[in-house]
Amino acid sequence: MAKPMKICCIGAGYVGGPTMAVIAEKCPHVAVQVVDVDAEKIEAWNSDTLPIFEPGLADIVRRSRGRNLFFSTDRATAIGSADIIFVAVGTPTKTNGIGAGRAADLVYIEKCARDIARLARGPKIVVEKSTIPVRTSDALKEILNNNGDGQFQVLSNPEFLAEGTAIRDLHRADRVLIGGDQTPEGLRAIDTLAAIYENWIPRERIIKTNLWSAELSKLTANAFLAQRISSINAISALCESTGADVDEVARAIGADSRIGPEFLKASAGFGGSCFRKDILNLVYLCEHFGLKEPADYWNKVVEIIDYQKRRFSAKIVRALFNTVSGKKIAILGFAFKKDTNDTRDSPAISVCRDLMKENARLSIFDPQASGESILGALGRGSKSVSSGIAIERDAYAACHGAHAVAILTEWDLFKELDFQRIFHGMEKPARIFDGRNILDRKALEQIGFKTYGIGKP
Ligand code: NAD
Ligand code: UGA
Repeated sequence: MAKPMKICCIGAGYVGGPTMAVIAEKCPHVAVQVVDVDAEKIEAWNSDTLPIFEPGLADIVRRSRGRNLFFSTDRATAIGSADIIFVAVGTPTKTNGIGAGRAADLVYIEKCARDIARLARGPKIVVEKSTIPVRTSDALKEILNNNGDGQFQVLSNPEFLAEGTAIRDLHRADRVLIGGDQTPEGLRAIDTLAAIYENWIPRERIIKTNLWSAELSKLTANAFLAQRISSINAISALCESTGADVDEVARAIGADSRIGPEFLKASAGFGGSCFRKDILNLVYLCEHFGLKEPADYWNKVVEIIDYQKRRFSAKIVRALFNTVSGKKIAILGFAFKKDTNDTRDSPAISVCRDLMKENARLSIFDPQASGESILGALGRGSKSVSSGIAIERDAYAACHGAHAVAILTEWDLFKELDFQRIFHGMEKPARIFDGRNILDRKALEQIGFKTYGIGKP
């Protein structure tokens, strides 16, 4: 009997955790080990309070953990015994040196490659799951083949899940992309990985390409998605100047099947750990290859997000008689989107920072983001920054005594709040700035609120 396949995933974050949980769920015959250098995170994965909030994830983990899904800090054993090694560590934007502010920092990827080369015995398939610049696989191969026993096949299998819908996205992926060397060994490795996904993904949705096409497709997919949001956000500014309604415009253009309805929601800017970093990475790649105009084109997508966030904070200050100094402003929602506890690059960070510069007092409520992560994102380190911020346990406490409410995450529960009660507890005139266009503004105005949306008349 063939020995059961073993998978190891290096990196137990927002990608490694859910992706491996779903592989373990759908492939009970495969043993999946997820390893991380962060012992606290591993402890949380082994507890009832997982380190990330993702609808449906806890149930899947509970069912597979200890059966064929394991979380551990023991990288040596997991790497040594695995047939397939996924690398799902962070690839943040470089903060210093060449390409600072744009290029991807591959320090964690390189560390993984060196660990794999040192610890692996026998043939291994090494899978790039992290999002990386095109041709990173060359560097990986060089490190692996110069330091290990030379029996490695490197594949690129970028992840397309979105936070908040990760489990649904993994269960019903539009496509799975696998790139590899177009040699007999490379093609065999592609088929081995494809066979894992074929346990639940229809074969026709598995796209097989060369390594570089797979690497570049991931950055390109994020750039195209982000570009749609920046485009509609740019139009939202024009809507505000002309009296058009951006949601009506989005609906009208999205009905054209060539355009489609998704990713046309205007907001007070988009966030998350990837869009900005991946587009900046694409800009850097274009510049590196001397392609100035493409670099400028993609850079504009990022500039529009920053413009949109600045516009929203300025709208709040302007409406409050040009001063928010000493005024209490309730911030409802701090995660970068609903159904996640992730606050990385959340638009709420920029808006809060702008308001803090104007000496506003902020009372912040988010149903999932921890107080620690919110204060961390706002630079709690300095005393002058941490004073004037209160983290509240519910929306009513956050809004009590406030001059204005700003909605910064589209959590469903905000639509169900008792706004009559909120209105009575607020300073008058009470204002609501709906940075996600989720509330019924007519109903709020009947209560007595003054309301402001994005791209709304
Ligand atoms: P994350 O920060 O949540 O997780 C990365 C994990 O890797 C951390 O827990 C860290 O401790 C661990 N790590 C770093 N170096 C390590 C090492 N040498 N050995 C073991 N563990 C190590 O990051 P993430 O959001 O999961 O993103 C990971 C990659 O996936 C990035 O390249 C990102 O662009 C890409 N991606 C993310 C998403 C998303 O929705 N978050 C979606 C698709 C792709
Ligand atoms: C995004 C992509 O959607 C995933 O396919 C990709 O795998 C992932 O990046 C990644 O590489 O990390 P994610 O950032 O988790 O996923 O979430 P999105 O749903 O794309 O939302 C990103 C931001 O855009 C959020 O702030 C969201 O509120 C905002 N957004 C989204 C809008 O402002 N308008 C929209 O119409 C859609």
